[in-house]
Order: sequence, then structure tokens, then C-alpha cells
Amino acid sequence: MPHEVLSKEQLAENVFRFTLEAPLIAEARMPGQFVIVCKDDSYSERIPLTIASASKEEGTIDLILQAVGKTTFEIADMSVGDSFDSVAGPLGKPTHIENFGSVICVGGGIGSAPLLPIATALKEAGNKVTTILGARNKQLLILEDDFAKISDEIIIVTDDGSYGRKALVTEPLKEICSRSPKPDMAVVIGPTIMMKFCSLTTKEFDVPTVVSLNTIMIDGTGMCGGCRVEVGGETKFVCVDGPEFDGHKVDFDQMIKRLNAYKPIEEKAKKDYEQHRCRIGLHK
Ligand code: FAD
Ligand code: FES
Ligand code: MG
Repeated sequence: MPHEVLSKEQLAENVFRFTLEAPLIAEARMPGQFVIVCKDDSYSERIPLTIASASKEEGTIDLILQAVGKTTFEIADMSVGDSFDSVAGPLGKPTHIENFGSVICVGGGIGSAPLLPIATALKEAGNKVTTILGARNKQLLILEDDFAKISDEIIIVTDDGSYGRKALVTEPLKEICSRSPKPDMAVVIGPTIMMKFCSLTTKEFDVPTVVSLNTIMIDGTGMCGGCRVEVGGETKFVCVDGPEFDGHKVDFDQMIKRLNAYKPIEEKAKKDYEQHRCRIGLHK
């Protein structure tokens, strides 16, 4: 069933929010879940994207996408009125939400998009929410206003100091974990290396930490094994057992190796697509 793009908004360089027609998914989705989208059944790759928000009344879901390679650039080039051939979901286990007390939510780069529905649900459940948002620079920082609305405290850091504090997210995270009383929980979503170092930081202070893993996915149903990770010495499939896991138990080094396995092919596909884009309009 095709899913029409109803609106498209640019949030930052190469970052877009899409609103899609998807009434059945909007009805069923819970915070923490994702969809697997396919632009064109005959030639496109299937890729996972988190459901950033949804409206049951409008029958729509919002996806926030950062263009990083061939498929995400292809999607970023879609316009209002275009359709995805398929959008499968909601997939993955929903986030466990309850009143834990005080929770630190840490979002790095595009990780802020999947973090927003979780932080919102934690706030609605009565938690005190402290948010740390990090980006390489001011231009890449997204969703600050949305987080400000639902956070009791918000800290912004950039790698180059162009906005907020010049620091990595681990710096304020360590400071907040050192407070008395310490936070009851942390939720960290961002690049794998950031989730690794945030988990090492919170482990020092014994603050339970949930991470949302962004492994390579193909079918999203537990059949292909593409998304397998080691958690606490056991093999888990991120698409059906996750995407959220105990950050203190994930084997991040193995995950990083698996994520890099297809780099040369992915880089070539991106280059070929860029050349194809440059040629559009040159030949009549
Ligand atoms: P490529 O050049 O092919 O790959 C770039 C990098 O993306 C790779 O090195 C690898 O690390 C990763 N990747 C490649 N193929 C896949 C794949 N099939 N599945 C997963 N990762 C892949 N991105 C967003 O912008 N917004 C989101 O809300 C979002 N949510 C995600 C939720 C989950 C559960 C997961 C697993 C990933 C999510 N991602 C999200 C990441 C997104 O799926 C990848 O950026 C995208 O697949 C890259 O495809 P590409 O062809 O453009 O890039
Ligand atoms: Fe195939 Fe998870 S994506 S098993
Ligand atoms: Mg790809």
C-alpha cells in the first residue's frame, strides 16, 4: 500500500522531517518503535527509521531523516505528493515507560529524533527530565525547542563550541551523575561510539542506562540475522528483541565492526547516486 508524503520540512543541513499518510501505523505505534521503509519496491533498499511522532486523528506518522548515504539521499530528494511503495511497522519493542523519578535523556545528532517521543512519554509519566543534546555544530543541532517544552533542565553542547557549551555529551553527563541524589536512569541515543562512552560514564556511577541500537537491518522480523548484537554475552536481534538494551551490557566494539562491514560498497553507491543527481536536467 503506497504511503504519500503529506509534508516535508528541512530541520538542519541534510536533516528533514517527513509527514506520511499511514493510518494503521499511527493507530498502533508506541514510543521507541520504528518502521522499515522502501521508496520503490523494484529498486530501493529497505531501511529502518524511528517513528518520531504520530497523529491518530490525522492518520499520519512523522519520520526525521538524516541523509548520509544512497538510500537516505534518495528519500531526502522526495517531494510532497510522492509516495513510498511500502512502510512496514510499527516494529520493535516499545520503550518501557514508568515513573522512575529523575531521568537524563542524552541525544547525539540525529539520535535526538528517536529520543524525543521517549523523553515526552517519560515526562508524561511524571519523571523529572534532564536533557543533554549534542551536535558537531550549531547547524546540525535539531529539536531544541521540542525538548525545551518537555524538559525540566536542558543542556546543549557542540563539538566546536558554535552553540551552547564546547564539550562532548559525556562531560555534562558525568557532572549530572555526580549530583546527589544521582539520577535514577539514563536514556542515550546517538552514534554508536557516543552510546558506548555514555554507557561507560553512567556505569562508573551505577546509573541504569538504556540505549537504542542502530544496527544494519534488512527484514526487521528476526529472520535474516543482519541486526544481531551481543548483549550480556547473549546473541540478540535488535529488530525484535530491541531496539533498546541495557547499555552496560552491549558489546559496542563488535557492533561497530559489523556496522563498518559494508563501508566500501556504501561509499560507492553514494558516489554513483551523487553523479546521477548531477546529471539530472543535463540531457533533453
Ligand atoms: P549507507 O551509506 O548505505 O550507510 C551508512 C551507514 O548507515 C552504514 O555505515 C551503516 O552504519 C548504516 N546502515 C546502512 N544500511 C543500513 C540498514 N539497512 N539498516 C540500518 N542501518 C544501515 N536514521 C535516521 O536518519 N532517522 C531515524 O529515525 C533512524 N532511525 C533508525 C532506527 C533504527 C532501529 C535503526 C536500526 C536505524 C535508524 N536510522 C535512522 C539509521 C538509518 O537506517 C541509516 O542511516 C540508513 O539505513 C542509511 O542508509 P543509506 O543507504 O542512506 O546509507
Ligand atoms: Fe533481520 Fe533483524 S533485521 S533479523
Ligand atoms: Mg545503503
